[in-house]
Amino acid sequence: MSFSQIGVVGLGIMGAGIVEVFARAGHHVVGVAESAAAVDAGKTNLSKSLARAVSKGKLSQEQSDEITSRVSFGEDFELLANCDLVIEAAPEILALKVDIFAKLDLAVKPSGILASNTSSLSVTDIANATSRPAQVLGMHFFNPAPVQKFVEVITTAHSDPQVVSEIVELGKSLGKHLAQISDQPGFIVNKLLLRYLNHAVQILDSGQASKEQMDAAMRELSGYPMGPCELLDLIGIDTCVEILKTIYADTKLEIDEPAAGMVKLVSAGNKGRKSGSGFYDYSEKPETPTDPNDDIKNQVHNDLLIAYLGDCIAMEATGYATKIDIDSGMKLGCGLPEGPFEVIEKMGLGTVRSAQAELSERTGVSAYQPLPL
Ligand code: 3HC
Repeated sequence: MSFSQIGVVGLGIMGAGIVEVFARAGHHVVGVAESAAAVDAGKTNLSKSLARAVSKGKLSQEQSDEITSRVSFGEDFELLANCDLVIEAAPEILALKVDIFAKLDLAVKPSGILASNTSSLSVTDIANATSRPAQVLGMHFFNPAPVQKFVEVITTAHSDPQVVSEIVELGKSLGKHLAQISDQPGFIVNKLLLRYLNHAVQILDSGQASKEQMDAAMRELSGYPMGPCELLDLIGIDTCVEILKTIYADTKLEIDEPAAGMVKLVSAGNKGRKSGSGFYDYSEKPETPTDPNDDIKNQVHNDLLIAYLGDCIAMEATGYATKIDIDSGMKLGCGLPEGPFEVIEKMGLGTVRSAQAELSERTGVSAYQPLPL
């Protein structure tokens, strides 16, 4: 199948990033959003990202203009009629996505494939809103979409294997690494990442460490490109709360219940970078977080890392995902310097298990215990 025309619905940071990925790869792209203001915001997101690439010498002005010329924008779903693939990147609200897919089903030609960039919601529920569930998949990109090289392809019981393999080939042609995962809350990366981010805010809420101490700890001691509070601000704290609600509804574990510190920020309208402030203030470029207290940094680094490695071990051991997909997802989706299983290999599994037991005993959280041998 040729994917000459791609549609994107929703033009926030993720939607505009997905538009850029496809337009850069030579596809014609139609970007649709619900209002003229949202369309304008999408255009601005795209032009800012391209201007950044031009200013860094990564693209010439001619290349940037050529990319822009392949993209058209509008508010009407009818503009998507001839698209071979439409990717939805609307806010993380199931009722909204179901409504969009029902409309896409009517607007897009029968052979068109429909994909959701949902971060955690049920792709099966979304597919059921259409008359073509075999042609509906999850196609989950990571922020910033033009930078992160990982895409999760989420399949449902309805999925047509031919459609899945065409989407995987398309993703590869965009220079992405793809992992297939069946429809489960949080898929691979968000299931691990969101629990880690929530853990950080739980530590913050308990007063054991400041956001700067936590962010500095993960940057300095594990070489992460961002600390957890910085990353929450990048993703959008509101989005993170919604993802956690979905995961929590599934696991019923207290550690997945959205931490109070996040919920309070969202209630106050502080959703992260997109709203101008979150854990940090973005009215001017924030400084890289730093803190001289090595004891606190070592402690929070240990606790966040050990809990996360324990989750990765459990995810692989239960057959949920392979070591390769978990390592690739965390490195290529989140820019981590090493995959968790590379870290476990270096530390030794026995050391990680002992540290899990110590963390569980010290905090009283049974979910941190190592898996029984
Ligand atoms: N759009 C396009 N390109 C961008 C960009 C953006 N918003 N932000 C940064 N870039 C590009 C830059 O142009 C630069 O490209 P180059 O290497 O070709 O010159 C490169 O990314 C590095 O950018 P900078 O030097 O300006 O900044 P940093 O080195 O600080 O990197 C970062 C910024 C790429 C955001 C890095 O900090 C990072 O990888 N952070 C982790 C992000 C992450 O974990 N994302 C996944 C979140 S989970 C998710 O998205 C799933 C969802 O469902 C919740």
